[in-house]
Amino acid sequence: MSIPATTSPLVAASLAVIREGQSAEGAYLACPTFPTYRYSWFRDGAFIAEAMDLWGHSDSAGAFHNWTVKTIAAQASLAGQVSADGEFQPGHLLHTRYRADGSPGSSEWPNFQLDGLATWLWALERHLSRHGLEASDSQRSATRVVADYLLALWARPNFDCWEENAEELHSATLGAVYAGLLGAAKILGEPQYEGAASAVRAYLLTHGVQNGHFSKHVGGEEVDGNLLWLTVPYGVLTADHPISRATARKVRADLLDPEGGVHRYARDTYYGGGSWIILSAALAHDHLAVGDRTEAERLLVWIESQATPEGHLPEQTSRFLNDPAYLPKWEERWGRSACPLLWSHATYLTLVKALEVP
Ligand code: BGC
Repeated sequence: MSIPATTSPLVAASLAVIREGQSAEGAYLACPTFPTYRYSWFRDGAFIAEAMDLWGHSDSAGAFHNWTVKTIAAQASLAGQVSADGEFQPGHLLHTRYRADGSPGSSEWPNFQLDGLATWLWALERHLSRHGLEASDSQRSATRVVADYLLALWARPNFDCWEENAEELHSATLGAVYAGLLGAAKILGEPQYEGAASAVRAYLLTHGVQNGHFSKHVGGEEVDGNLLWLTVPYGVLTADHPISRATARKVRADLLDPEGGVHRYARDTYYGGGSWIILSAALAHDHLAVGDRTEAERLLVWIESQATPEGHLPEQTSRFLNDPAYLPKWEERWGRSACPLLWSHATYLTLVKALEVP
């Protein structure tokens, strides 16, 4: 099947959604129309900046990185109080999301999450190397703040990328820390961060694998769709490695809905636990990485079919819910599920680019 994807109206719509969702300060609001998501998350933003770079919108990516550098700089003295062996006072942690003006915002949030900061280091390094740029002094100093923070804390349980399960060490988070520390080593030209990245990877490969596949968290057996990121983009293992193959097989067996959507994990009940666009895109990258272009294209078509008539991609779709009883409960609490989600659009754009390579 040959898809003229670059000409798909959803490409233009996606670029527009992301541009419109970027604040004057450079922050990407996760979903401007969903009040709880009127913040800029490092995790979402890193994936979005990468997509914008790929599509030639490096001004947008650069503005996000500048926003992040300033936001981190403003918090640097707080983060610096986390001791080298990971001791910290409540309130001394970096948050996972900030307001567009760089302030933390007033609502309570599960902020102790490491994967977003780590993924930002990965994205910043890609941004700099793609454009042949040397890191500026402020970029170097924000990189060091984040890398040292990750070094001090990576072995401590923290909330996962879904902002849940604070008591566990999550494989996807460890993979992000690995990729982020490698990024820091390159940005700073300091090999000790590469050594630390290798130690995190070794820990993950020893403790984050059960029955031959990666597990959602250390000591568990369950899988999570986020484990697909351990190959693309985090690069912990290549997609053809037996652990990657076993992981992708189990993700498909446990989490793939009959049409092409991927659930986050089997017990997910957030808005009923539907299928997430970002994870179908991740599964498509996995197929592509092992040469199964047909399946990757099928998933792209599925993603396109989830867009609203005005070209908006949701966070999740509600056609196959793990537990429908939770949908009205969440709607009552926060309103209708987030749409358009900038991160969904970004993963769509990145997948289209990946499929352009013959
Ligand atoms: C997701 C996070 C995401 C945030 C903003 C949350 O519901 O679990 O992964 O960063 O929304 O999009």
